[in-house]
Amino acid sequence: MMPVGSAAACPEAHNWFREYDNSTRVEDVREGLTAEQKFIPSRYFYDARGSILFERICRLPEYYLTRTELSLLSKHARDLTRDFAHGDLVELGSGANWKIRILLDALGRSRRSTVRYVPVDVSQTALSAAAQELVKIYPELEVAGVVADFTRELQRIGSRRPKLILFFGSTIGNFDEDESTVLLRRVAEVLGAGGRFLLGLDLLKPANILESAYNDPQQVTAQFNKNILLVLNRELGANFSVKDFEHVAFFDSERERVEMHLMAARKLTVDVRELNLSISLAKGETIRTEICRKFSRATAQHMMTLAGLTISRWYSDPKDWFSIAEAGLPRT
Ligand code: AVI
Repeated sequence: MMPVGSAAACPEAHNWFREYDNSTRVEDVREGLTAEQKFIPSRYFYDARGSILFERICRLPEYYLTRTELSLLSKHARDLTRDFAHGDLVELGSGANWKIRILLDALGRSRRSTVRYVPVDVSQTALSAAAQELVKIYPELEVAGVVADFTRELQRIGSRRPKLILFFGSTIGNFDEDESTVLLRRVAEVLGAGGRFLLGLDLLKPANILESAYNDPQQVTAQFNKNILLVLNRELGANFSVKDFEHVAFFDSERERVEMHLMAARKLTVDVRELNLSISLAKGETIRTEICRKFSRATAQHMMTLAGLTISRWYSDPKDWFSIAEAGLPRT
């Protein structure tokens, strides 16, 4: 990582890395749209409109995830940040500042002045806005934002300083088993001995509660889901017509995950110009747009074990709906 100055003294001195080369990545859309169960990688949700819709989802009464995680952070902030100083506080997929502010407040001014906050996000606009806000609130804090896709470029945040790595929101649930193993192995490498990792996890609960969270009556989630088609239209020259698709979200109890799909309301053909691809969908056929895995402590530990990590503390709410797992490399 390049040395950076104090963001307070020089707010433009954030450590902006160049954005990754997108050209090699669109092939995942071809793979998805030609698979037997068609899918679109969920990273296409998050253009400017998708990010605004996701923030609206986080405030919905049915979407208990965000408020439950926030309440856990508030309740356990001192414990979660205990003994952490002179290190890098790295947040993956940082987005807005709601969560980090709780932890920065718990650190207090004197410890804050010794740590560097390293938000990692693909959106330079979001990262920059969030970082500017933070350095205004905490002038003593050094902020070194990294514009990067953390699923591919985690090694860019390597440094010798002690690490507290944060990955909130149960975003890990949007990765399948193989993807989460790859990502968490990279986390383990960057973390090093003595580093701590805090992972937000949505827990298993009755299907009706899970399904309500992804089928809100205001249809914000439906709009968010359909927005992925508009992103492909714009970015890849596709010609999806949003009105031809219905939002579908259900809990698969065997695979312990909610799945979101877009269902074709009639038989149709779609062209994707940039991929030189034409696909047909039968009436009722679906394109999967997201998986949202739900965990128990045992399945969370299993996932961590595959990456060489071990859970040392488990913070959950009284209803056991959400958890923040604290993990690290096993002590030798
Ligand atoms: C970002 N991620 C953790 C959300 C989730 O719940 O899996 C995305 C989302 N999809 C629909 N609603 C929210």
